[in-house]
Amino acid sequence: MAKKLFVKTYGCQMNVYDSTRMVDVMAPHGYEPGDSPDDADLIILNTCHIREKATEKVYSELGRLRALKDEAARQGRKMLIGVAGCVAQAEGEEIARRAPTVDLVFGPQTYHRLPELVVRALDRSLSGGAGVVDTDFPAEAKFDHLPEESRSQGAAAFLSVQEGCDKFCTFCVVPYTRGAEFSRPAADVLVEARRMVAGGTVEITLLGQNVNAYHGEAATGGGTWGLGRLVRALAEIDGLERIRYTTSHPRDVDDELIAAHRDVPELMPYLHLPVQSGSDRILAAMNRKHTAEAYRRIIDRLRDARPDLAFSSDFIVGFPGETDQDFVETLRLVREVGYAQAYSFKYSARPGTPAADMGDAVPETVKTERLTALQQLIGAQQIAFNAGATGSVQSVLFERRGNRAGQLIGRGPWMQSVHADAPDRMLGRIVPVRILDGHANSLSGAVVVVGETSTERTLPPAERAIA
Ligand code: SAH
Ligand code: SF4
Ligand code: F3S
Repeated sequence: MAKKLFVKTYGCQMNVYDSTRMVDVMAPHGYEPGDSPDDADLIILNTCHIREKATEKVYSELGRLRALKDEAARQGRKMLIGVAGCVAQAEGEEIARRAPTVDLVFGPQTYHRLPELVVRALDRSLSGGAGVVDTDFPAEAKFDHLPEESRSQGAAAFLSVQEGCDKFCTFCVVPYTRGAEFSRPAADVLVEARRMVAGGTVEITLLGQNVNAYHGEAATGGGTWGLGRLVRALAEIDGLERIRYTTSHPRDVDDELIAAHRDVPELMPYLHLPVQSGSDRILAAMNRKHTAEAYRRIIDRLRDARPDLAFSSDFIVGFPGETDQDFVETLRLVREVGYAQAYSFKYSARPGTPAADMGDAVPETVKTERLTALQQLIGAQQIAFNAGATGSVQSVLFERRGNRAGQLIGRGPWMQSVHADAPDRMLGRIVPVRILDGHANSLSGAVVVVGETSTERTLPPAERAIA
């Protein structure tokens, strides 16, 4: 009988991609993905270490799983618990020490070895030995050892093309948990993309911690390809209608990538381009290696190339030494750029990163005030951006059913979530939808009936100077 595997994913899209690949790795060994941990034979928490809260979530979940595992044991069922991802990489054996219920711990670069780790963990659970830990950064490339995807990846899917980071922003754990930067050869990416499209995928989001630092071995002509070149090659795949990429670093936005935004219609007009702060002093302390002005220039050049391009970003408030004036500069940058949406976080000191030893901590109350002010501004921009869509016709890729019968939910080109009444046969298809209303976090619309004359119009460039 097939065994059940339950993977719970935390953190970024890289982890989402890795979790699907873990399912692929275990499929030939008789493990089927399940929807619940209750009857699982193997439970994997694919974890995130980015902020303290993210890490703590993992330990509280492990507390809950312990009870589940004890109950399974009482029923004579063996349940293995694994911790994967960035907490596993950062804390290694410490996890098994703090949570002895954990049977195996493995990092983002070793999950292609999962079947053998599971065998060792089963042995140890019989003999009562210590948990199995594998947090190497192995010399062999994980991607060369992963099996082909075992299932269709869905209409909109992720494809990991680059991993790791050499930027060492002073607040960030990623260079330590994911290791050095690595780009997959372009030919491998193209093969995987073609397989995904053959399986029904119409939208691919290229993933990497610094995806636009991509410099994979060229598929033709020797040398390496940058992300712009890779996007052009992907756009030639028949049936691949939409391409996105995330997450980018401002320093790696080059001419070729900007030109791809100008020339490649499949490249969607929405870009997540984190800036973290609008203060040059703080940007320098963060080791971002660019100024606020350089970021504004990049945004302008991208908008010149593709006027309807909308932006999102990440911000950190309360970085060590951040003054009121620094924060005001962040608000100013947000007003000037005008975002379609953005994520903002209170600075969280991460052990082992340079910023954790900087001193000059910003008091929690000040962090809270700044976060509230920033989120209000960003929220107002998002509402204005969504309201601006009203009356337009957007092509929407329907991905799932809504809560209401007969309703489907999908995404428009600008990543907005669009709700509309539509038959199930439209799932997985890109359909024109007239936007009737813009809400805080979504749009509602009506499918444009074929034959109706639609005056298609694109959105204006992201609203500037709102609020
Ligand atoms: N590679 C991406 C970011 C990955 S982490 C980039 O360079 O932009 C996602 C976001 O988490 C970051 O953009 C940052 O805003 C936030 N973040 C990272 N470390 C953090 C920390 N120590 N405290 C608070 N937020 C943090
Ligand atoms: Fe972290 Fe900076 Fe690398 Fe992004 S670029 S992953 S924030 S170190
Ligand atoms: Fe978190 Fe690791 Fe992604 S720390 S954000 S899961 S790279």
